[in-house]
Amino acid sequence: MQPITELHHFTPRVQNLKPSATLRINEHSQALEEQGREIIRFGFGQSPFPVPQSVVKSLQEGAVKKAYLPVKGLPELRRAFAKYIQRKTGMEVDPEDMLIGPGSKELIFHLQMAHESVLLLPSPSWVSYEPQAALLGKPVHWIETRAENQWRLQAAELEKACLKHTDINKLLILNYPNNPTGTTYSAADLVALAEVAKRHNLLILADEIYGDMHHEGRHLSIAQYYPEGTIISTGLSKWCGAGGWRLGTFAFPPRWRKMLDIMAVIASESFTSVSSPIQYAAVTAFEGNDDISEYVKTSRRILKTAARYVHRKLEEAGIPTAEPEGGFYLFPDFTPWRNQLNGQAPQLATSADFCRFLLEKTGVALLPGSDFGRPKDELTARLSYVDFDGERALEAARHLEVNDAFLEKYCPKVCRGTELICTFVS
Ligand SMILES: Cc1ncc(COP(=O)(O)O)c(C=O)c1O
Repeated sequence: MQPITELHHFTPRVQNLKPSATLRINEHSQALEEQGREIIRFGFGQSPFPVPQSVVKSLQEGAVKKAYLPVKGLPELRRAFAKYIQRKTGMEVDPEDMLIGPGSKELIFHLQMAHESVLLLPSPSWVSYEPQAALLGKPVHWIETRAENQWRLQAAELEKACLKHTDINKLLILNYPNNPTGTTYSAADLVALAEVAKRHNLLILADEIYGDMHHEGRHLSIAQYYPEGTIISTGLSKWCGAGGWRLGTFAFPPRWRKMLDIMAVIASESFTSVSSPIQYAAVTAFEGNDDISEYVKTSRRILKTAARYVHRKLEEAGIPTAEPEGGFYLFPDFTPWRNQLNGQAPQLATSADFCRFLLEKTGVALLPGSDFGRPKDELTARLSYVDFDGERALEAARHLEVNDAFLEKYCPKVCRGTELICTFVS
């Protein structure tokens, strides 16, 4: 039978959807691997670490829990998550203001669906916010950020964007530590942004999925400075290494309870509730214990050392890169090398061209900055320094100093990939 391809079979909003450059890079990497090439996967954003033992044990014990759970989430989990938010932010929060979903991505999509607003997005931003808005027919206003500010959204730029949309509600998605840049905000930055948010009555979705992966363990939430208008989004995917378990969490301000209720209606008509065993295991994760604290601290030590190593090497090779503060990513800018690279390959007009060329020449996969909202002709790219065996590295780091020698032994692809990039440009 012929595949169905005629456009009239598809709704107008999906007719123009194209596979992202990310997907194309992944397919290209796979094709090269099938030809026997070694690929260094700096394009992947998954935690390299295994789920902490005590959380795995809870999941095993919870396998017998087979009933549907309440749409807003298991009450015990909502309580554990509220206490987690209290521990992290010092804020008093009510378990009734907590919502559990099948990954924070789904919850963000439902929030965008429920909130009548223009979406304000700093450029660069994580790949999915804008396509979600496009699927919903939601207007998007990109706000420029600059490398010299470590790609941080500036209060004055936020103010300007708000003044352009005085007649409509505004939803700002602020993600920190940031994917793709690896940078984050200081208390002073957050206070300045909160002041603008208050003045313009913004709803802020603080995507803090990498909060616990702040390399110094000093993550701050904008909810501490703008509690009345900030929803905190997090989950198990990054700090707990459980992306495939699909559990995300939102903490709402009390005055936005109606939004939570509406999102629960959307949930009841779509995913119903998150898988029961996963929710029981998540109680252990959010309650925390010595095993989990040690796991998080050791993960951070490895990530921080890897981030600083790669950053130092890139800077030494003349590739400007903002200093990493958290998460798994760096955002090097290869634009200064454009002319030199064009001598080798005249077609390097865009970041997607650059990533394709780098992959073919060196086997190192990066993701183009254009997928994160950057101008196509700027040669920025996201580099994810987590292509290593996290279980082995974590075990070794428990009794070893994590330094360059450690990285060479336990994260060899991170070192090799970095070297390949540096020699490629120079
Ligand atoms: C910035 C950011 N937000 C949200 C997500 C979605 O996480 P999940 O749906 O697994 O909770 C990701 C995952 O890569 C991310 O990088």
